[in-house]
Amino acid sequence: MDKKTIIVTGGAGFIGSNFVYYMLKKYPNYRIVCLDALTYAGNLSTLEKAMKKENFRFVKGDIRDREAVDNLFAEEEPDVVVNFAAESHVDRSIENPQIFLETNIMGPEVLMEACLKHKVGRYHQVSTDEVYGDLPLDRPDLFFTEKTNLHTSSPYSASKASADLLTMAYHRTFGLPATISRCSNNYGPYHFPEKLIPLMIINALNDKPLPVYGDGKNVRDWLYVEDHCKAIDMIIHADCVGEVYNVGGHNEMANIDIVKLILKELGKPESLITFVEDRKGHDRRYAIDPTKIKTQLGWEPETKFTNGIVKTIKWYLDHKDWWEEIISGEYQKYYEKMYGGK
Ligand code: NAD
Ligand code: TYD
Repeated sequence: MDKKTIIVTGGAGFIGSNFVYYMLKKYPNYRIVCLDALTYAGNLSTLEKAMKKENFRFVKGDIRDREAVDNLFAEEEPDVVVNFAAESHVDRSIENPQIFLETNIMGPEVLMEACLKHKVGRYHQVSTDEVYGDLPLDRPDLFFTEKTNLHTSSPYSASKASADLLTMAYHRTFGLPATISRCSNNYGPYHFPEKLIPLMIINALNDKPLPVYGDGKNVRDWLYVEDHCKAIDMIIHADCVGEVYNVGGHNEMANIDIVKLILKELGKPESLITFVEDRKGHDRRYAIDPTKIKTQLGWEPETKFTNGIVKTIKWYLDHKDWWEEIISGEYQKYYEKMYGGK
């Protein structure tokens, strides 16, 4: 395998850090450089083990900082840039859309300009199935394909869809060698405690109420994070410039069923479930059709949800230090604001 230098932006967050570990393990001769601004969602402790590797470098920096990005690209001469850096939480985007537009749209523009200037071989934009909006609950025959219209609901998904359009524009207009992946909901280690699965695990462990939005019947299509990393690895190594790939493993579940499953695994009572006010504009159902990535690149998910959720719960039990530090800090204020008194 040729040597490559890969810049991973947002590598101190949930999926980015899993990708860093996946790549370090699979390609010991690659150089992996993580660029991350360490926002509330980025944790250096997550990358502790990577820091010990000689072929890994962490750089604290903002993808919107043109000069810093330019200097880093000049220094590292990356072959590939994978952009995970983003504001990623829908609820926060409803509270304060502005930062989502700045990071999720302007950030990619800065990165893509740098890719053009430094002749980077591949820019990969990590997108989401949320760009397609939602599907009705009573049409289980419908799925998102790459041809489904973009039809966003939240400021978060609108910002991600904007970045996708910009990426395709840079490809067509400037010849940027770009690819895009649109994955369904991920779960697994290092998932920030504000998201459904870690929030419910941690609240259940602390015997706190489990806040379920609306009727709890909203459906998400869950994929173990390592399977997402595998998909991105396959895309960046394939001859597929200009392509968009949907990534998902046909694992649709209603929120309430996930919450009940977590309670059962932890031996906690369902009386902890508390139905709270619904999210504004709450998408009903997401469901990915992964036919394209399966047939063109041979991608298959490896972890079934029944195993993945048990592994994930065990990870949170074994890594209390990681999440206790997070929930004791700034996050406490966010939690009080969003769920205060519930
Ligand atoms: P996350 O919130 O856990 O991590 C985001 C990371 O980006 C953090 O480390 C943060 O410090 C960093 N960051 C934020 N703003 C930055 C900036 N301006 N400059 C540099 N770094 C910055 O997010 P995640 O869940 O790991 O998601 C990663 C990517 O995958 C996002 O682009 C998201 O849209 C996409 N995605 C997520 C999911 C999911 O289920 N979590 C599913 C599909 C796609
Ligand atoms: P989330 O993890 O925020 O991911 P996304 O909104 O990007 O899919 O939420 C997953 C689902 O869980 C979504 O339907 C909203 C719901 N949810 C709750 O019911 N309660 C909560 O406290 C949170 C954070 C989410």
